[in-house]
Amino acid sequence: MNKIQRVLAVETSCDDTSVAIVRTSGFVEYMTSLSQDEVHKPFGGVVPEVASRAHSEKILHLIDRAIQATSLGWKDIDGLVVTSRPGLVGSLLVGLVTVKTLAIIYKKPFVGVNHIEGHIWAPFVYSEETQTKIVPNEFLSLAVSGGHTQIIHVKGFGNYTILGKTVDDAAGEAFDKFAKLLGLGYPGGVLVDQQAQHGNPHAYKFPRPMLRSGNLDFSFSGLKTAAWNVISNLETGELSTEIPNLCASYQEAIVDVLLEKLKMSISKVGNMPVTVTGGVSANSRFREKVEVWAEKEKLSFCKPELKYCTDNAAMIGYAGARRLAKGESSSLDLGPFPSSLENDFKYEDF
Ligand code: KG4
Ligand code: ZN
Repeated sequence: MNKIQRVLAVETSCDDTSVAIVRTSGFVEYMTSLSQDEVHKPFGGVVPEVASRAHSEKILHLIDRAIQATSLGWKDIDGLVVTSRPGLVGSLLVGLVTVKTLAIIYKKPFVGVNHIEGHIWAPFVYSEETQTKIVPNEFLSLAVSGGHTQIIHVKGFGNYTILGKTVDDAAGEAFDKFAKLLGLGYPGGVLVDQQAQHGNPHAYKFPRPMLRSGNLDFSFSGLKTAAWNVISNLETGELSTEIPNLCASYQEAIVDVLLEKLKMSISKVGNMPVTVTGGVSANSRFREKVEVWAEKEKLSFCKPELKYCTDNAAMIGYAGARRLAKGESSSLDLGPFPSSLENDFKYEDF
């Protein structure tokens, strides 16, 4: 088999269609992504059938664009990578069948990777060739997105132990539901973040769920009820002027819980580098508070560039390139899975 130096990667696990050309070092030569936000906006959330159809309409255009824009030919691509799990099965299927077909046509090896593994490595993906990222052998990863909230002890590439996870909603979901309550729009996280910049994080008291649970799990579903109670007690006409304060206070509750659980994790596993990743790691308050804490504790801290926080093919490409470079590849009978596979992660309870 040829040495793996450059891969073409495809990510279609949910509602972003993304294609990237990535080197095994993590350097992203090209990335193009199409968000389906406008398509799903009228429904206030992702509609699986609509998502698969939108992926199938765009995916080949994006791949073609990547090849044209980089002036690379298929001979320069050493392998293909695709997200095969977890995600919406119809959406995953579009990426998977596309990549398997290209693998046959161009006689390239391909590998299906776990979407969360992609997020784990997103902080180490880079878009300036001169930039270097130091990749630690062992680190703690807090992966917070619209679908997942997990604290993962990374003990080397491919060796992931989940220390804590959400027992109900993901952190991103909590942001999205709150934005929907306020009528801000979809997806809500970034809109709440923007409103919060002009508000007081201590104006309203929202609960900090599970801080006394004694374990590293999260729960965010109760926050929506708490928010509803606060909103319904406002005087008529007060809501529109209170939106910045509500957003800042609600955001602060989520960020506090995430940070506290990160602190608890470090006290359980010992000092080691810390990373945050996933859509919620784009949150400005979260990035700032983790950075300040890590600096104070003298912990090395790495966060993804903003464009690699939310779903993207660059992080999938980096994880897959490393797998292909180790000699791993998938067979043509690989199918999509809605959840992670048994051997993807180990679990440890505290
Ligand atoms: O990683 P991602 O693109 O998709 C999943 O794997 O789920 O994450 C999307 C989530 C959404 O819930 C979105 O509201 C949230 O990330 N998000 C944010 C911000 N930007 C995106 N949440 C808080 N603040 C942000 N700036
Ligand atoms: Zn994701």
